[in-house]
Amino acid sequence: MGKEGFELGTTIPLLPFFFRCIVQPRKAISYYPCNKEKTVTYSSIELTSTEGIATLTFNRPKALNALNTSLLEELADALDSIEKDEEIRVLILTGAGEKSFIAGADITEIATLTPLAAKKFAQFGQKIISKLQGLAIPVIAAVNGYALGGGCEMALACDFIYASEKALFGLPEITLGVVPGFGGTQRLPRLIGANLAKEMIFTGKHLSAAEAKAIGLVNKIFAPEELRAAVNEVALLIATKGKASLCAAKQTVNQGLNADLATGLGIERDAFALCLANPDAKEGTSAFLEKRKPVFTGDLNS
Ligand code: CAA
Repeated sequence: MGKEGFELGTTIPLLPFFFRCIVQPRKAISYYPCNKEKTVTYSSIELTSTEGIATLTFNRPKALNALNTSLLEELADALDSIEKDEEIRVLILTGAGEKSFIAGADITEIATLTPLAAKKFAQFGQKIISKLQGLAIPVIAAVNGYALGGGCEMALACDFIYASEKALFGLPEITLGVVPGFGGTQRLPRLIGANLAKEMIFTGKHLSAAEAKAIGLVNKIFAPEELRAAVNEVALLIATKGKASLCAAKQTVNQGLNADLATGLGIERDAFALCLANPDAKEGTSAFLEKRKPVFTGDLNS
């Protein structure tokens, strides 16, 4: 058979590829070589990366960016590609439009679920949101509007939150006759304490950005038109740091939070020692002593 023909022996190894083409979320990839910006457009999210910063934008305007299964599948795929991209040092999450970050899990989908299907839905949402939290690189939530239910839970899995003055936070699941299912009952009390978390969960009330900042849910608040620039600025600042020390810092804080102080200090000692094995430690300390700015080029494999 000629070069372009199909022989069973050569086609079978390609089957997984064809299968992936069929079952993978629909996405279109484009590159803008002048500034090396890369954009991957899915049905309900968009992933852009440039200068070491990736921005993931939730974009389901008809449902205020609510999380349905298909969006979560796309998010899983996007997180996979972020994990594989050595260039990316910081991830920003935000919502398309001016009104909403994410208005929660999709209530039209929840309304149809049997208890067993609801368990699977929650399991899937928790898995993807835990994957987000477990990313080695820092993740910033730029909350531009509603962050309710699953949207608040998504923001809680980020490393910190910058919000627009117009943002509203809440876990309103109780008003739907259910409880948060994407990690809110667990991550919120760990962040703001059990009493304040219970008040939010039991009342289902929305908190303004200022109220959310007062209880330590949000780091900083900006005028809506200034939010993205402020988030980009802090992301750029973080992106100038060494990838290995950034990832070690994130992992150390996260692991230490689930451990007693002595164990946490042990984790910190190991992380500190491991950093010295990366060329960035040599560069950072030399740059200080030579009174110049460091240029970190080490990666996680250095
Ligand atoms: N799921 C599905 N659709 C949603 C949605 C959601 N979570 N939130 C909003 N929408 C849809 C609305 O149904 C509406 O669609 P139509 O135009 O087709 O009617 C559209 O988005 C615009 O919404 P509104 O007209 O309601 O806009 P508003 O400005 O008057 O109100 C809002 C905005 C306060 C966010 C209101 O939409 C709202 O309360 N949404 C639900 C918020 C919520 O309860 N979230 C928790 C979901 S459950 C969950 O997340 C469980 C979990 O932990 C896993």
